[in-house]
Amino acid sequence: MDKSKQPEQLSLFDEVVDGAGAPKPTTNPEAEKHAAEVVRLRAEIAHHDQIYYSEGRNEIEDYEYDKLVRELRTEEDKLKKKDPNHELLTIASPLNQVGGGAVDRTGETVRHAQRMLSIDNTYNEDELLDFDNRVREALSSAGELAEASTPVDYVVELKLDGIAVSVMYEHAQLRYAATRGNGEDGEIITGSLSRSPNVPNKLSDAFAAFDVLELRGEAFLTFDDFNRINNSLDQLNKKPAANPRNLAAGTLKRLDEFNSASRRISVRFYAVGAASGDALPETHSELLSMFAAGGLPVNDTYRLCHGINEVIEFEREWEHKRHELPYPVDGLVVKVNRRAWWDILGTTAKSPRYMIAYKFNTMRASTELLAVTWQVGRTGILTPVAELAPVQLAGTTVKRATLHNYDEICRLGVRVGDDVLVEKSGEIIPKILRVSEDYVRTGKETEIAIPASCPECGGAVVLSEGDASPYCQNENCEGRKRAQFTHFASRAAMDIQGLDEASVRLAMNGGILNDIADIYYWTEAQWTDLLRRRASDANVKGAEKKEYKLAKIMVDEVEESKAAPLHRVLFALGIPQVGATTARDLARTFGSLENLMATTTEDLEKVDGVGSVTARGVVDYFADEAHRKTIDRMRAAGVRFENTLITIVAGDDPKANENNPFIGRTLVLTGTLSSMKRDEAKNRLEALGATVSGSVSAKTWAVVAGPDAVGTTKLKTAAAKGVQIIQEEEFLRLLAAAEDPIA
Ligand code: IVH
Repeated sequence: MDKSKQPEQLSLFDEVVDGAGAPKPTTNPEAEKHAAEVVRLRAEIAHHDQIYYSEGRNEIEDYEYDKLVRELRTEEDKLKKKDPNHELLTIASPLNQVGGGAVDRTGETVRHAQRMLSIDNTYNEDELLDFDNRVREALSSAGELAEASTPVDYVVELKLDGIAVSVMYEHAQLRYAATRGNGEDGEIITGSLSRSPNVPNKLSDAFAAFDVLELRGEAFLTFDDFNRINNSLDQLNKKPAANPRNLAAGTLKRLDEFNSASRRISVRFYAVGAASGDALPETHSELLSMFAAGGLPVNDTYRLCHGINEVIEFEREWEHKRHELPYPVDGLVVKVNRRAWWDILGTTAKSPRYMIAYKFNTMRASTELLAVTWQVGRTGILTPVAELAPVQLAGTTVKRATLHNYDEICRLGVRVGDDVLVEKSGEIIPKILRVSEDYVRTGKETEIAIPASCPECGGAVVLSEGDASPYCQNENCEGRKRAQFTHFASRAAMDIQGLDEASVRLAMNGGILNDIADIYYWTEAQWTDLLRRRASDANVKGAEKKEYKLAKIMVDEVEESKAAPLHRVLFALGIPQVGATTARDLARTFGSLENLMATTTEDLEKVDGVGSVTARGVVDYFADEAHRKTIDRMRAAGVRFENTLITIVAGDDPKANENNPFIGRTLVLTGTLSSMKRDEAKNRLEALGATVSGSVSAKTWAVVAGPDAVGTTKLKTAAAKGVQIIQEEEFLRLLAAAEDPIA
């Protein structure tokens, strides 16, 4: 780290490097063996990173790079076991590039300092003119424009088709990066995003005066990177992503942030969320110039337009030119240039009134609805899928679209034979918006009926009052089981990618997959056989040669999945009503599978967001002998069910004692503590079950202030938000009592 560029006032979060950079010799020869490996692997990875980022070239395949990263992680873990204080573990590792105290609990959420809104969409020039009218009328009635006819300056940018990200800097130092999430709370993705060369660890001097600077931008993949990564996924028999946006999202959110794709995320910044300590420029165009001058990547295709007519000119230009771009763009974003007017125009509940998105219209097309098929999901729900006359949409041929559920069919009033409007907006499956406006029915169209029986097992189908879709009642329905097994192996669950729907189907037909625990007992030969059959089914040319290698990878993936944290396993098991969020809440609250299995509906209902239906679903699930047997067999095979989330409710967690006020709470540190280093305070708090965050929000329980912390932003924000401030002396007392409750 470049010391000369450090801000004058050292905060608890400024990196503290103890002594020299060279590893301290230890007396533990075993630790040294791992240390040597760590040094070797880090150098090798650094070499590949360097040639990729500076020369754009690869010397090794992605999977080989991933293997190096996996090896490094294993060696670092081993080193940590042998010598937890080894110097190599405290200096920057490529596995932890964020450094400087940045928060990287990938998958945990963080409250945005400023909410992330979405933008309203427009689809044609008339709607753009309406937007401009609304803006000018509001500004003239506020006395900001001489007349309502005075043109307004807009900045028009390309709308990059990726994932919105928020990157938080404190005193120019990266603190965390997060996804938009629900707008209030985002998912932390520091690990994967900070690997992008576009996201600096430290901002340049141009931003030194900002105490807090929350940058907003888009993370995306270029078409080249998308194709290259998809090819390598294909080689590994993993499911390729449907489009660059999905691949970017998957890459960013994966718990294992070092999958091959994470090396190529691009980011362009286009806005600021929260900012304090320095003033932002008066106009948006100046803000973009400031970004660019300060070394932050900006998409430089934007234009400052005087009046809406120039905006429309720009739109007509890009309607064609966008096809030549090497990265995906799905429209334009039109922003009022003068930022003071943003406050005057304000926001609606969801979106600002001072900007609008314009979606390129080829993202929508009309085509004939040929038929509706029904897919059985893992809970038995039947989902309608529209089979369409093939139509070109955003560069791909669309043949199927989702109709979501039976309610949606009724709401849209669509019939088989209708001409329907299909939209593809980056999601995996295109959706049907409505019957095409100018479509005149011929009388030959037919109503879409609920299927008389399950298309998979022929069992009875029921549509209960209040349900949006019918469902198959047969617990043993093959289609349902197939969906359950596929879900178990999916990325968000156990992440065993080679076990996709086609493989699951083959394995079930071959009689080797009756229970999900079976996969933990398959041999490499069984995998080879399965993959061979799958390849010949799919008519993959040259696949024969790959099976041996792939089977080995599959065995590795299954092995790795044994370490999946408890919340992922809970989600994977497919417990009724337990989605990814509830699974996290349950793991966090109960801390272990044993606790959860032994709990009552009463205790379950105490968990935020768990109602009586979910509570009953969970208790019944674990009461089922077959489910208990599956879990036993998984455990016997080595699945660890280890909780990695913070336990909030006192069960028999050793951290929980009545003298520990920190458990499950979020604290923020400010100033320099005289009694200990920032890292020590953080580690001790985390050991007590607290989260240490870099910025004060409504979620903050307390701000701990060192003696030199006077008038810091964090203190001011804490005061403004009514968050308690704990001085060092009091903090030490609380810490000591929590750590040693008996004394
Ligand atoms: S401004 C209030 N500018 O489009 C939201 N967004 O549909 C401020 N996007 O969530 C966002 N390019 O992910 C803005 N040049 C751009 C953009 C852009 C892409 C995305 C962004 C946003 C989504 C809204």
